[in-house]
Amino acid sequence: MEFFIDTAIIDEVREINAWGVLSGVTTNPSLVASSGRDFKEVIQEIAGLVGGAISAEVTSLDSEGMIKEGREVAQWSEHVVVKLPLTPAGLQACKTLTSEGIKTNVTLCFSVPQALLAARAGATYISPFAGRVDDIGWDGVELIRQIKEAYVLGNIGTRVLAASIRHPTHVVQAALAGADVATIPYKVFTQMVKHPLTSAGLDAFLKDWAERAGASPETP
Ligand code: E4P
Repeated sequence: MEFFIDTAIIDEVREINAWGVLSGVTTNPSLVASSGRDFKEVIQEIAGLVGGAISAEVTSLDSEGMIKEGREVAQWSEHVVVKLPLTPAGLQACKTLTSEGIKTNVTLCFSVPQALLAARAGATYISPFAGRVDDIGWDGVELIRQIKEAYVLGNIGTRVLAASIRHPTHVVQAALAGADVATIPYKVFTQMVKHPLTSAGLDAFLKDWAERAGASPETP
């Protein structure tokens, strides 16, 4: 499973990208708004840092507006993936943009029927929102698992992008459910990398090494 980071904060992208684990970045209108930055500038700056897929979401509600916006954002960088909401207009825009060779990420997916429709419309990625499904008392990871199973059975190439990831266990569950990609917030990356036994083990290794380095060659 590949990792994207779910953020519009450049420092967060830079830091996690330096770990060598990122294949892409997802943004949404809320994330871009909270960054306080210009949309185009943020996307282009991210594209300059990360070579993989960079999702940039349209905000029009009608298909014509989405197509116009999609064509525009797709020109900002060869890495841009146009993010479209899972609505009738979004599906229509997905079909048109896909036919023009533009990559798409159909977002706000909360059911398998929606995911099947997005695949038919040619979506490059489908984004089921695990955390938000959990929030209403359903099972977000089971949704990911069912979408993946339906895609495999139907020989569908649309990639399953597990979104709305809230904690490291979600990442593990998404991987085991067959997600192709998980888009992960910065905080969850920092939680994933830490383990108390890693810190304790490293402290002990360095303490032993310092004692050894301080010893004379004759010391047994
Ligand atoms: C996906 O692309 C979305 O940006 C994101 O994962 C939504 O997550 P949230 O439910 O934590 O806002």
